[in-house]
Amino acid sequence: MFYEPRLGHGLPHDPFKAIIAPRPVGWISTVDREGRPNLAPYSFFNAVHSNPPMLMFTSESMKHSAANAIATGEFVFNLCTRDLFDAMNISSGDQAAGESEFAAAGLATAPCRIVKAPRVAVSPASLECKVVSSSQLTDMHGEQLQGWIIIGQVVGVHIGEAYLREGRFDTAGARPVARCGYRDYAAVTELFEALRPTDGGGYAPGQRDR
Ligand SMILES: Cc1cc2nc3c(=O)[nH]c(=O)nc-3n(C[C@H](O)[C@H](O)[C@H](O)COP(=O)(O)O)c2cc1C
Repeated sequence: MFYEPRLGHGLPHDPFKAIIAPRPVGWISTVDREGRPNLAPYSFFNAVHSNPPMLMFTSESMKHSAANAIATGEFVFNLCTRDLFDAMNISSGDQAAGESEFAAAGLATAPCRIVKAPRVAVSPASLECKVVSSSQLTDMHGEQLQGWIIIGQVVGVHIGEAYLREGRFDTAGARPVARCGYRDYAAVTELFEALRPTDGGGYAPGQRDR
């Protein structure tokens, strides 16, 4: 089939998010101007730069996470794992402004070092970020959309010691959760390794990943 999104897909559900899948879940913690914590998942999320490391997430309507990140200039990425799935799902519920999803999901907070927002204490990895840009999305005709993209630079990295094995982050051991289409999710439990054509004799420890 072929369709133009502007004319509709004719299917029971929009396949777009099932095609762009899996998408990593950015489990974003922030504080509002009063310092009240907020936590919510965002799968319009990804890494966008490596040196310095940078992340983005997109808010469809001005939700608390985006509003807090813009107001304070800070946010935190927390890695959502298969074990933390239910808590992450609960944290996507509609809480009133200032009501903590940490409490609703039964999650302990841990302090960050550089930013004010707390992190998810049990998450295997959390990345403290400073907002470098935020903007409202426009479509191809220049019409403003109810979508905001927030880009942050990673200024602090927390890694649980149990997830560091021989100097490498144990991604498969952490079992990160990714969003697929509809109500489907994937968990990464297995990795395979492949050398790049430019790797020559092999992949040297400490070599830059590109
Ligand atoms: C796995 C998952 C991914 C989500 N991704 C997004 C997203 O990328 N953008 C968005 O606007 N909402 C997304 N949502 C919905 C928000 O998490 C939800 O609206 C939440 O209440 C927002 O909370 P906040 O207002 O505290 O930021 C997602 C929900 C789930 C469960």
